[in-house]
Amino acid sequence: ARHLLGIEHLAPEEIRAVLDLAEKYVELNQRTIKHADALQGMTQINMFFEPSTRTQASFELAGKRLGADVMNMGVQHSSVKKGETLIDTALTLNAMQPDLLVVRHPASGAVDLLAQKVKCSVLNAGDGRHEHPTQALLDALTIRRAKGRIQRLTVAICGDIAHSRVARSNLILLGKMENRIRLVGPPTLMPSGVSELGCEVHEDMKAGLEGADVVMMLRLQKERMDGGFIPSEREYYHRYGLDAEKLAAAKADAIVMHPGPMNRGVEIDGEIADDINRSVIQDQVEMGVAVRMACMDLLARNLRAERGRQAAGVM
Ligand code: CP
Repeated sequence: ARHLLGIEHLAPEEIRAVLDLAEKYVELNQRTIKHADALQGMTQINMFFEPSTRTQASFELAGKRLGADVMNMGVQHSSVKKGETLIDTALTLNAMQPDLLVVRHPASGAVDLLAQKVKCSVLNAGDGRHEHPTQALLDALTIRRAKGRIQRLTVAICGDIAHSRVARSNLILLGKMENRIRLVGPPTLMPSGVSELGCEVHEDMKAGLEGADVVMMLRLQKERMDGGFIPSEREYYHRYGLDAEKLAAAKADAIVMHPGPMNRGVEIDGEIADDINRSVIQDQVEMGVAVRMACMDLLARNLRAERGRQAAGVM
């Protein structure tokens, strides 16, 4: 494929191929000299229409470590502020001949739409509530390294499922790899129809965490609650915040994950987040750079092959 728009388009063997290549980049990233040449001479543009720390920084580092010329488009200072549409902005950038476009946008489906209008590879860095594919892939790599496998695990995804593209992409990926998935949270933050997806749904945190191998916590995404029900943080922490007492329901060697940004004292206790024996939150960040390097490397190979076929008049 030319684009990475969602986990829904990936087969299990493609997911494994990303994780296997990412392992090589984990090793490269731990060296003092971190350069590879998979994107040498290529141009990468990052367009983030929503705030980001981890995803933007890691895509930028990933591109630079692979030898690309990387440009971060400052959306706040661009003509988007003067009313230019997403598509016109994309067509303008397309005319500058980029090879990779990394896009985060608040509207679900916006990145797919944009991908239809440009000639380069497009990577979805999160679109609305829809998908955040590189997050699910970095989570899968983190789990595989901690547990030695990415199948037959019991994974509890907890909190604001309804507004979470991270939950959706993880649900799809973990389902494709044949894991047992539990969604845990208040009914008001649970999307409709989830039980039809083959996962268990729990309102009670301890019941949801019982025997889990992986506990994945999510942030309350107030920016997507559209003025609807927003729980009181105190009440929420009491019932759904991950603390030592609730974590005791999971397996003794269960790992704790959080995609970030994290709200300590709301969805997770700070001591749990910092407990290096349980928390793999910093590993997730480290895996993020390697996974994004692997994704861009694989897409660049496909793009070169496609352009080669076009040049030879095969297509
Ligand atoms: N997990 C994640 O997407 O974090 P950022 O919003 O900081 O990129």
